[in-house]
Amino acid sequence: MQSTKTIFDSETIRKDFPILRRKVHGKQLIYFDNAATSQKPKQVIDAMDFYYRNYNANIHRSIHQLGEEATAKYEEAHEKVAGFIHADSYENIVFTKNTTESLNLLAYSLTDGLKKGDEIVISQMEHHSNFVPWQQLAKQRNLKLKFIEIDGEGNLDEESIKNNITKNTKIVSLTHVSNVLGTINDVEEIAKISHENGALFVVDGAQSVPHLPVDVKKIDADFYCFSGHKMLGPTGIGVLYGKKELLERMQPFLYGGEMIREVTFDDTKFNDLPWKFEAGTMNIGEGIGLGAAIDYLKNVGMKQIQNKDIKLVQYAMDKIKGIKGTTTYGPKERGAVVSFNIAGVHAHDVSQILDSDGIAIRAGHHCCMPLMSILKVPATARASFYLYNTEEEIDKFIGALGKVKKIFAI
Ligand code: ALA
Repeated sequence: MQSTKTIFDSETIRKDFPILRRKVHGKQLIYFDNAATSQKPKQVIDAMDFYYRNYNANIHRSIHQLGEEATAKYEEAHEKVAGFIHADSYENIVFTKNTTESLNLLAYSLTDGLKKGDEIVISQMEHHSNFVPWQQLAKQRNLKLKFIEIDGEGNLDEESIKNNITKNTKIVSLTHVSNVLGTINDVEEIAKISHENGALFVVDGAQSVPHLPVDVKKIDADFYCFSGHKMLGPTGIGVLYGKKELLERMQPFLYGGEMIREVTFDDTKFNDLPWKFEAGTMNIGEGIGLGAAIDYLKNVGMKQIQNKDIKLVQYAMDKIKGIKGTTTYGPKERGAVVSFNIAGVHAHDVSQILDSDGIAIRAGHHCCMPLMSILKVPATARASFYLYNTEEEIDKFIGALGKVKKIFAI
């Protein structure tokens, strides 16, 4: 594997990902669906395999050697996550199932003091995970849900940010990087505006933490949510970062074992952070796998990964734009996704034809139906890249788009 000192070399990186050797429909797999989930290096697969083969036990309760080892590794994974996003401590890091669960936890637990007419602000580009929980909370509690608009480029409209975040706003919850448009939002600036207005600032970091260096304290995010499976880790493990004083004040989301300090017939005292929010037996092996994914990403270097993403996405954008009849969505400066349509061809057909050439992309509304209505399309095709992708793969993908046009005689 690469050390941070050596030059980023995709071919060496690719050797760590067993799945990249497989063929699909007789063709070499080209995996461009990284925004949906990333592939896993053998270091992550091995860390989980080693746990299940050698020290599988429950954590925080079993007083025996296996229990001690599992607890230490699971807790160490919290420390690794804290270091990776520059949080103060493991106490700020709650493990959940995924970004969706982290955001739901907030929508359930951040309700103290909310009263009729209070406002929650999200944007038109949000994923359903950062949309539906707030929409439903607003309906249940008679709150007002407001939307920051996007401009013609696919950036958040600056006037709309200022007009929507006011003294009536209690919570602002925005994506850091759009999973459709690739837009990288200025979360540091919006945190400032939110705080000046007395609102809490929540960030959906599902598409940012895997791809760029994130410093939750520099952003001054009150909460920051992301998933392990999009950053080389396993499914079933996600993160909620929260400022300690806020997490301490919040009511737990789930009650049960492990999240308690003491239970009597009359009442319950909750556990310390972060365990107060981790009820029941958690996804221990997955937490350990996430720890291994962070080791891998740190070893390659997040700045290097970001630079590689920029190179790939700009290369792909230029090539796609060169194909007559294509429309791309979103700004020039962006994260590692390109959403596009070919006139006269449904995105699902594009995806299916590419699949026959072993190329995996995603097509559909990408869990962003409100955004699709703004773009005035039912769906887009989306190619999304990661550290193991190459320009040669993009060339093959562009060639396959030519085949799509030929089949549809455009
Ligand atoms: N949110 C993921 C995506 O954009 C699943 O594909």
